[in-house]
Amino acid sequence: MVSEASHSVTRAGAQVLVASNRGPVTYSLGDDGTLDAKRGGGGLVSGLSAIGDDADALWVCSALGEGDREAVRRGVGEPGVRMLDIDAAVHADAYNGVANSVLWFVHHMLYQTPLEPAFGPEFRAQWASYEAYNRAFAEALAESAGPGAAVLVQDYHLALVPGMLRELRADLRIGHFSHTPWAPVDYFRMLPDDIAERLLRGMLGADRLGFLTGRWADAFTACCVAVLGGTSGTRIGVHGLGADADFLRERSRRADVEERLAALREQIGGDGTRKVVVRVDRTELSKNIVRGLHAYRLLLDERPEWRERVVHVAFAYPSRQDLAVYRDYTAEVSRVASAINSAYGTDSWMPVILHVKDDFARSLAAYRLADVALVNPIRDGMNLVAKEVPVVSDEGCALVLSREAGAFEELGDDALVVNPYDVSGTAQALHTALTMPSAERAERTKRLAASATSLPPSQWFLDQLQALTAP
Ligand code: G6P
Repeated sequence: MVSEASHSVTRAGAQVLVASNRGPVTYSLGDDGTLDAKRGGGGLVSGLSAIGDDADALWVCSALGEGDREAVRRGVGEPGVRMLDIDAAVHADAYNGVANSVLWFVHHMLYQTPLEPAFGPEFRAQWASYEAYNRAFAEALAESAGPGAAVLVQDYHLALVPGMLRELRADLRIGHFSHTPWAPVDYFRMLPDDIAERLLRGMLGADRLGFLTGRWADAFTACCVAVLGGTSGTRIGVHGLGADADFLRERSRRADVEERLAALREQIGGDGTRKVVVRVDRTELSKNIVRGLHAYRLLLDERPEWRERVVHVAFAYPSRQDLAVYRDYTAEVSRVASAINSAYGTDSWMPVILHVKDDFARSLAAYRLADVALVNPIRDGMNLVAKEVPVVSDEGCALVLSREAGAFEELGDDALVVNPYDVSGTAQALHTALTMPSAERAERTKRLAASATSLPPSQWFLDQLQALTAP
């Protein structure tokens, strides 16, 4: 099922291995047949680079699109990356069917329960693919790992890998890290009993499990106790990923960001007198973008003094567009934003500026000029936007933060905390944030930035590696 070009970059005997569905590089296939490689960022990329080029490290990931598959077929690759060309239909069932439509929904509590979930034969077929996809990773890791190597498996896509790998290679140190929340017991038990059990047993195959907050770690333990009677000796640790301050501060002062700043100011209008509420998200069902827009609308409705004096800059970048429910949600975000603009907009004022095309430099520009950042997820493993804004902000920014975001554990004291379902409460918090005196805002921003950067990605990664390999 897995094919790989014979002269791929696989190194036999790696000492540190990372496994994740999405890898650090993606390939796109041009019309003329050339392959273009694009490297991504994120915590794992900086973590792995922190262990140095000499370390014998290997990142095992899945080919995701046609460009990736073609790269594997041609034997094109990056040093230190092994991309698995798992059968496209198997991957789609595992990734879209099980990981994104079931596990993501369970951990973020996204079901509309009167009608869903309904686990029948279709789910069972997808589950078989999820197992096959996990097995492909376990086999590749077993083949590539040197004796006694440390393997760090990432996220809900690969929950079965620790158990499968343990059976193949008892000598390895196996860690697993969850970047999402973990569901509360009653919600987790919506899964068919045998599936719930297999997921937990799969994860408990690891020597050590990592979570972003104590809350998610405790939820996992509670599920193990309820379903299996205990955690059978697997160690559980908490590692809250922080923002990468050095990178962000340098990157956000480059010329392309300055250009975007000027363009945004132009769009906002009002000669610099208008306040700006910023949000930047991937368009995930869990990000609660629609309720955020409703709260902003309520602010304009109930407090007319804000009309013409505030602009909501909302960046909602595409995510998982293979799934109809994501496409519908994306359409709803645009619909609600347009409705606000038609109801309240004037010739000289556009209340909502919505951008849906991913542009990192523009996101940084928005972080810099924000007076208020709105981060109101329904539920979120951590939420790095909440941590990045205070680091980059030019003059201080008030943070309206959901208590259901992992970041709340670290940032709650200096944020304006909201219940994400409470639209009225969120509108009130926006008003409080917009009227916060600038000295207080600057002070809070300083403290937020300090907490947000206390565990930079490289340290986050090294701590896990050390905890896993400690005798
Ligand atoms: C978010 C979550 C991660 C997850 C990732 C997958 O960033 O925090 O836990 O791995 O989404 O996103 P993808 O675009 O690969 O489906």
